[in-house]
Amino acid sequence: MKGEFDHFMQKEIFEQPEAISSTMRGRLVLDVLGAAERVMLGGMSQFAATIRRSRRIILCGCGTSYNSAIAIRQLFEELTELPVTLELASDVLDRRCPFFRDDTCIFISQSGETADTLKALEYAKAKGALCVGIVNTVGSAISRATDCGVHINAGAEIGVASTKAYTCQIVAMVLVALSLSEDSRSKHTRRDDIMQGLLKLPGCVKECLKMDAILLELAQELKEEHSLLIFGRGFNYATALEGALKVKEVALVHSEGILAGEMKHGPLALVDKHMPIIVVCTNDGSYEKQQSVVQQLKARDGRLILIVSDDDTEMEKTAPDAVILRVPKVEDCLQAVVNIVPLQLLSYHLTVLRGHNCDQPRNLAKSVTVE
Ligand code: UD1
Ligand code: BG6
Repeated sequence: MKGEFDHFMQKEIFEQPEAISSTMRGRLVLDVLGAAERVMLGGMSQFAATIRRSRRIILCGCGTSYNSAIAIRQLFEELTELPVTLELASDVLDRRCPFFRDDTCIFISQSGETADTLKALEYAKAKGALCVGIVNTVGSAISRATDCGVHINAGAEIGVASTKAYTCQIVAMVLVALSLSEDSRSKHTRRDDIMQGLLKLPGCVKECLKMDAILLELAQELKEEHSLLIFGRGFNYATALEGALKVKEVALVHSEGILAGEMKHGPLALVDKHMPIIVVCTNDGSYEKQQSVVQQLKARDGRLILIVSDDDTEMEKTAPDAVILRVPKVEDCLQAVVNIVPLQLLSYHLTVLRGHNCDQPRNLAKSVTVE
């Protein structure tokens, strides 16, 4: 089952180019010249008009699935021009959130069986909201209970720490955002850029996987550390959170994903010459702000590891001592799919080097079916 790989987590990280292609297969429709022309989501077409008329969109999930919601929020806001809110499923139930008939609730789940997400779905249904699923497992409880949805078709995910489901969830939701905005003339160019970017995405993720040996080396350097901070913002706030979640859940190292805009409001106090800090600073609308974050972390002697775009020339001048990880540059809203790959590889190697089980981490379950 694991083929040439030592662990399912490793296999699933390396399967991502193919998994992402599967998510898009038959849904990103090409013209005769092979360019992406439009998006066709069989399961959503009947409901698109209702979703566009919603008062707001609520994205809901747990763990990694919730992080994929964070990754997609900005694009949903941009393309649908609707308010988009995020909800952790357990919190929906704790707060008895005000949901309404004219809300669209999108439930994201790899397994489709997570108890909190399923209960939040039942709650939203009872309030009369339209319920949409973004689910990997066909025939699962969430897939069956939603009004409509999209199967991400990532293939079975065995490793407890979710990897390929995360990137495929983001891609599936990019397709949803594109299909909800297909009538918008003002967004034509942006939508077209994203569609062509999607076509290149599997190749860019494959390129990123070639960094495996570099990440093994970095893991060797970091394997005795007790803490790791990861800063991101904008489209890559989710990358910081998901990277930190991977490091803590499998490598059993304390790690915090931090919104870089919050750096001065507390996290900066932790920075000294011993603290390893990863900053996601690929080239997008947040680049200059991230450059300033790098300068400030450097001024406090932080041990910096920077994830930058392959054509970047500025960051290594800003922080000459930093470890630089170069990733292929893609459309800004797709960059999170690429940027998480080095962090998945790093957490995988840290786990193995520290002698832990990456496929069955201590105290965790693949599918949490009790509240
Ligand atoms: C469907 C078929 C796929 C076939 C394709 C050909 C299934 C599961 N999928 O894919 O095998 O190749 O047509 O046209 O038979 N749904 C939910 N909630 C969810 C996920 C999905 O209600 O969380 C619903 C959808 O609204 C849809 C159905 O399940 O009615 C199948 O969804 P999906 O597999 O995403 O649809 P297609 O990509 O059209
Ligand atoms: C569990 C898993 O906590 O459930 C996580 O260990 C996962 O990896 C979370 O992200 C949510 O699961 P699902 O199946 O609803 O995406």
